[in-house]
Amino acid sequence: MNYKKGSINDLPELVKTNFQIFNGMYEWPPYTLDQYTERLNGVNPTIFIAERDDKIIGDSIAFEKDGGWYLWILGVLEEYRKQGVAAHLLDLNEQHARDNSYKEITVKVYNVSKEMLKLLIERGYEIVDIHKDKDNKYNGIVLRFVL
Ligand SMILES: CC(C)(COP(=O)(O)OP(=O)(O)OC[C@H]1O[C@@H](n2cnc3c(N)ncnc32)[C@H](O)[C@@H]1OP(=O)(O)O)[C@@H](O)C(=O)NCCC(=O)NCCS
Repeated sequence: MNYKKGSINDLPELVKTNFQIFNGMYEWPPYTLDQYTERLNGVNPTIFIAERDDKIIGDSIAFEKDGGWYLWILGVLEEYRKQGVAAHLLDLNEQHARDNSYKEITVKVYNVSKEMLKLLIERGYEIVDIHKDKDNKYNGIVLRFVL
């Protein structure tokens, strides 16, 4: 597995990978390139990419929000899960946030993402808020990790 820092120029490739990762997970379809571009406009994101044999198999996208480090996207292709890739992407984000003097990392996870919730809670992330959805299926669980 190889890990590298990505850039906005990698977005077209990442959007394709993330389509496979997130397709069918939520009631809404995975974000399009336009939606990524719009969300990341002006926020100077930090992107980490996990590759195996030059193929992107996972990634994370994070940026500063409300004075802290906000992890917006993190995913790993299904066939490459349970090998510690997400844990390593979290390590990279936590180190990057520490190196840039952020005091905390915040993540919003929908409660359909059980694997992510489990991973974060086991790492010591604490639930600090819940954005309730009308039928509870897509409640957004906000977790915070103090660095
Ligand atoms: C959530 C997600 C990113 C986790 O990715 P992952 O690479 O499988 O995560 P990891 O391998 O680091 O950890 C997952 C589990 O594998 C275990 N694991 C890690 N390395 C392992 C290894 N070498 N052998 C066996 N198990 C291992 C971890 O301990 C962890 O166990 P747990 O589930 O009991 O806590 C992935 O499931 C995913 O992309 N899901 C869809 C997208 C999503 O939900 N993203 C989050 C939205 S906010």
